Amino acid sequence: MDQPLEAYQDEIYLAGLDGVTPRLPADLNELERVADGRLTPEAHAYIAGGAGSGDMVRENREAFRRWRIVPRMLTDVSRPSYASTVLGAELAVPFLLAPVGVLRIMHPDGEIAVARAAAACGVPMVLSTASTTPMEEVAEASGDGQRWFQLYWPQDRAVAASFLARAKAAGFTTLVITLDTRLLAWRPRDLDLAYHPFLRGSGVQNYFTDPAFQSSLAAPVSADPGAAILKFTQIFGDRALTWDDLSFARDHWDGPIVLKGVLSVADAERAAAAGMDGIIVSNHGGRQVDGAIAALDALPAVAASVGSRITVLFDSGIRGGSDMLKALALGARAVLIGRPYAYGLGLGGEDGVRHVLRALRNEFELTMRLSGYASLGELGPQSLARPGPAS
Ligand SMILES: Cc1cc2nc3c(=O)[nH]c(=O)nc-3n(C[C@H](O)[C@H](O)[C@H](O)COP(=O)(O)O)c2cc1C
Repeated sequence: MDQPLEAYQDEIYLAGLDGVTPRLPADLNELERVADGRLTPEAHAYIAGGAGSGDMVRENREAFRRWRIVPRMLTDVSRPSYASTVLGAELAVPFLLAPVGVLRIMHPDGEIAVARAAAACGVPMVLSTASTTPMEEVAEASGDGQRWFQLYWPQDRAVAASFLARAKAAGFTTLVITLDTRLLAWRPRDLDLAYHPFLRGSGVQNYFTDPAFQSSLAAPVSADPGAAILKFTQIFGDRALTWDDLSFARDHWDGPIVLKGVLSVADAERAAAAGMDGIIVSNHGGRQVDGAIAALDALPAVAASVGSRITVLFDSGIRGGSDMLKALALGARAVLIGRPYAYGLGLGGEDGVRHVLRALRNEFELTMRLSGYASLGELGPQSLARPGPAS
């Protein structure tokens, strides 16, 4: 499954000969700053914000800075391949698009633009339950693109079963169950703007188009949208959910199942014991438990405990190729990116998302080659150092 290397860098420099410079920054860390003032204050705050003090959003990034790559020299990197197959998904480089809800608040094309960009770049998209476009329409825009479905497990089991049946019928192959969001955290940036997209009818589109959800309402959604939103808030997260309930997902889904939001070895072991196919080590980009462990700090021990039995994926803090290399070296099979593509969407629609995907891929390939790695299998703890404080 060798694929040609990304030549985005060459394209950019060649366009420069005609006086054309890229519309979006090459450093994906910069997207948040550029988006400030160009997205609505509400959309910017919704993407950038974290739980409580915001400390965990910073800590996710700091955790990457604590690990340093130790490049190796004089290895043959003339014909590298960073392709892999992860839970049936074919990845030219090991990343996927994390589920990000309410994408139409960032750009009117929302999930449709993301699905098209992802399919064009060959990157699998994980569609959020909280999308602003019904899953069937996203699937149509995705076409032959690879797609996974993320479930926010609702309190109403009939709605849960219906979501899974719809997702399967629409060609979503892997199910991602998010564990860390049975209720929404205290998010000061949204609170300061008194902004909750769901209450304004964004992010409820899978519910409003769902036959099981509709049949739980006294009146059709169009006749009483306020009552439909109220119902959504009542069933959004199942706070009584426990490990025993995972058998329900297994009974209603015949593809791989991945649990998102695992941060401890104990929970990773439970996921493996429950017969899950994978986990995503993630703290939801610092949006749920203020003060929680950085996702990267949780990764090595989790990967060491279950990595040989189930697929360990990672997100929370990936902003560039070196971050990808570090997470893979610490045991992740692939990573998911979140905020960068949401900003790319907000700033440039489908083209903005393509920019992010192409930049990340090209930067990853360059970082791998410059570090002396021709394949993913060569990465390991020896690829990194963690310098201690000078004594
Ligand atoms: C605006 C926004 C919306 C999100 N929506 C969802 C969602 O609907 N479902 C979910 O499982 N995770 C959601 N996440 C979390 C992402 O899947 C991912 O874990 C997180 O973005 C990783 O952190 P990073 O973007 O800082 O790298 C969301 C994140 C952001 C920033």
